[in-house]
Amino acid sequence: MIESIAAIRAQAQDFTITDKATLEAYRLEFIARNGVINDLFAKFKLVPNDQKKAIGAALNELKQYLEARFKEAQDHLERSVSPVAAPIDLTLPVVPETLGSRHPINIIREKITRIFAQIGFAVADGPEIEDDWHNFGALNFPPNHPARDMQDTFFVQQDPAMLLRTHTSSVQIRLMEKSPMPVRAIMPGRVYRNEAISARAHCLFHQIEGIYIDKGVSFADLKQTLYYFVKELFGSDIKIRFRASYFPFTEPSAEMDITCLICKGEGCNICKQTGWVEILGSGMVHPEVIKNCGHDPEVYTGFAFGMGIERISMLLYDVKDLRLYTENDVRFLRQFAHLAH
Ligand code: PHE
Repeated sequence: MIESIAAIRAQAQDFTITDKATLEAYRLEFIARNGVINDLFAKFKLVPNDQKKAIGAALNELKQYLEARFKEAQDHLERSVSPVAAPIDLTLPVVPETLGSRHPINIIREKITRIFAQIGFAVADGPEIEDDWHNFGALNFPPNHPARDMQDTFFVQQDPAMLLRTHTSSVQIRLMEKSPMPVRAIMPGRVYRNEAISARAHCLFHQIEGIYIDKGVSFADLKQTLYYFVKELFGSDIKIRFRASYFPFTEPSAEMDITCLICKGEGCNICKQTGWVEILGSGMVHPEVIKNCGHDPEVYTGFAFGMGIERISMLLYDVKDLRLYTENDVRFLRQFAHLAH
């Protein structure tokens, strides 16, 4: 068998290929399904086991040679029939590839999600078109309560009981309604308010809210959780302060300020010379809200908080106009291409 392998190799070597027809003749003779090589592989099956290794190697080598010779002749023929290929000018300028970039809202949302995931907060989701109960009623906004006016709601024309959610607090309700206690989750999402669009207000923006309810959760837990969050996101030299506030669904309620990132607390235009900027609303979840979701407020307590992603992104990336986030201007978006996630 070794001899026939050598003989076939010699034959193939001497086979003259000058055009397509002889190339095809070569193929049929040596490498096609009925060609010599397959013949040999068929005979190989009968080779005694102790010779299989040596003969197998020689056979494989022959196969490679036959195919290489075919490929080489084919390339050669193709090259000689095609018009002379234009030489490639390596000095020509290249059109640079433009890489896509992630939207700043997306980047911040994921950063915040990751920070809370590290301390055990899951991520919850809910519908953007909500009913009155989840956006208002269950959150302790009675009908005709003046706090509803603060939310500038878009109602659905065909069904005024439905609305575009004005905050992701609605997801807190949905989560508590369906989950056994304890709950610990954040809820990022798009929200809508009927505001005139300007550099500082938009009818569409993004929030991340969070909730933690269990036995014995206190305001100290709220403070420490948010302090941890601020240090992770903005750096360890940032201070926080709470100001008493009002939300129907929390009691007590507080807005949280952080050291102004622009002037480091010295006082500037951005912080109106106070050295502080507001970043979120928070508070202890109102007992009525816990009850509305089917849990016992005598047993369970907890806190909630909510912040606007656009606002945080404005502080971190020094964005001065809210409208930039939704205009899809590549000159704006491109600036975030280099940012790590
Ligand atoms: N839902 C409030 C808002 O839209 C934010 C908030 C969430 C406040 C949770 C307190 C607790 O502004």
